[in-house]
Amino acid sequence: MTLIAPSLLSADFANLAAAIAAVEAAGADWIHVDVMDGHFVPNLTIGPPVIAAIKKRSHLPLDVHLMIEDPETWIDVYRRAGADMMTVHVEACRHLDRTLHHIRESGARAGVSINPATPVAMIQEVIGVVDLVLVMTVNPGFGAQSFIRSTLGKISSAAGMIRRAGTSALVEVDGGIDGATAVDVVQAGAGVLVAGNYVFTAPSVGEAIGTLRQRAAEGERRRNAEGVPRIV
Ligand code: DX5
Ligand code: ZN
Repeated sequence: MTLIAPSLLSADFANLAAAIAAVEAAGADWIHVDVMDGHFVPNLTIGPPVIAAIKKRSHLPLDVHLMIEDPETWIDVYRRAGADMMTVHVEACRHLDRTLHHIRESGARAGVSINPATPVAMIQEVIGVVDLVLVMTVNPGFGAQSFIRSTLGKISSAAGMIRRAGTSALVEVDGGIDGATAVDVVQAGAGVLVAGNYVFTAPSVGEAIGTLRQRAAEGERRRNAEGVPRIV
């Protein structure tokens, strides 16, 4: 079953407890937290103290997306703050293999992310040491951007790479996910959907998450019936 990870980036930062309660009540699987440093991406969001505060309010696994330069130095800090999973960008890591091992040794699950302009081949050598491959479906930095369709082929390629490696890593997608794009990304091989704007600007958070679940199930049905679409 496809997992749903609402991104708090589009929630009311002055009322995160309410946002967390709403997504928990709606049956979300993980909570996605976007950490930005104003260097790797042109935006600045939240850091360890806020993550620690979120952790106190939620029973769900915290999926921490580190859009920061040199994440290596921050791994233990975010782990102590409550991160259950940490995803780093291949574009931001000088020693990616070391950083991913460090995440796992901290006790968290390790994810690696690629920007829309980064080929999937960049993660070939570390595919055996990750639990998550986060394919960015927008350029990271902001919520509410439009889905970039050329990433669909990369989702399929990442899923194929994981299959060949024989691991149970999941493909996560992040950016521009709504009721329509959810079908396509799941058919292409996504196992985790991050959604911010779609969930938190909806009249009902519960209905939005319910719709994403239904659309993901449709994507799974199409993948089983028609296979992964051929996208070059
Ligand atoms: C973007 C972040 C996303 C963002 C997605 O840089 O990594 O997690 O919240 O937002 P939507 O779903 O609004 O595109
Ligand atoms: Zn994110």
